[in-house]
Amino acid sequence: MYQLSGVTKQYRRGKDTIHALADVDLTIGDGDRLVIQGPTGGGKSTLLQMLGGLDRPTSGRVELDGTDLAKLPEARLTRVRAESIGFVFQTFNLVPTLTAQENVETALVPLGVKAGERRERAARALDSVGLGERLRHLPSEMSGGQQQRVAIARALVKNPRVLLADEPTGNLDESMRDEIMDVLDAMWEEHRLTFVMVTHDSSIARKAPRLATIRKGRITVTERKDVPPSAGGAGTRNAGGADTDTKTKTDTDTETETDSATGEEALGKR
Ligand SMILES: Nc1ncnc2c1ncn2[C@@H]1O[C@H](COP(=O)(O)OP(=O)(O)OP(=O)(O)O)[C@@H](O)[C@H]1O
Ligand SMILES: [Mg+2]
Repeated sequence: MYQLSGVTKQYRRGKDTIHALADVDLTIGDGDRLVIQGPTGGGKSTLLQMLGGLDRPTSGRVELDGTDLAKLPEARLTRVRAESIGFVFQTFNLVPTLTAQENVETALVPLGVKAGERRERAARALDSVGLGERLRHLPSEMSGGQQQRVAIARALVKNPRVLLADEPTGNLDESMRDEIMDVLDAMWEEHRLTFVMVTHDSSIARKAPRLATIRKGRITVTERKDVPPSAGGAGTRNAGGADTDTKTKTDTDTETETDSATGEEALGKR
């Protein structure tokens, strides 16, 4: 699980210092579903970057199962990201020249999965998000909702334990938005993920049993008992005991991975 304490992130802009996160304390349990909202510029994406080890705090601790991500050497951090953390972004971030299947495969390259198994697992992941018929389509040949499904398959094909989504429905119309939320929640359930999602969508926030609001870098967490668990209810599902504590594999690091193994190069297409 995540344990953040005193997390501060400052950006310097000339003479100015921007306090993107100010002394954030936060606990996120295994299998939790946390929704984050707040005004633009409040620090939501910055917090997600800390959780994902995409950036380091200026001060404070970002512990994932007792390991402080802020202090991990770069190679170890890269490994944690590649194995344990799936990301979904508002703009899908697919490689335009790769097919759906190839885009999903890119997540397995840093893990050293062989080509045949990569193809198979990518096809299965796409099938699980309802895109079994679209393996050979390029992003430009798919709707926004379909592209986001590809991105979700790419995030989950490696069986991560954490899924981080930054406004995953922000570029979609209302019907697509509901579809993608259904897919994300189904994946959260099925994979017993720890799921943290940033949203500007008040109808999603309203239904969240655990809601964090970030304003000017400061966080407030609200737990709401009046929201039924069926509306994305974290907490009810943990009783069965998620198999999460065996999933962090950082101790077996080979420390040879880099983030450059993505896209065409990674698949040997260049
Ligand atoms: N790389 C950077 N360099 C300088 N300032 C930055 C950088 N990244 C973020 N900031 C600043 O930090 C603050 C928090 O930004 P962040 O992107 O976390 O906000 P947000 O809550 O995600 O906003 P939005 O809802 O618009 O996505 C903002 O004032 C932003 O301008
Ligand atoms: Mg943001």
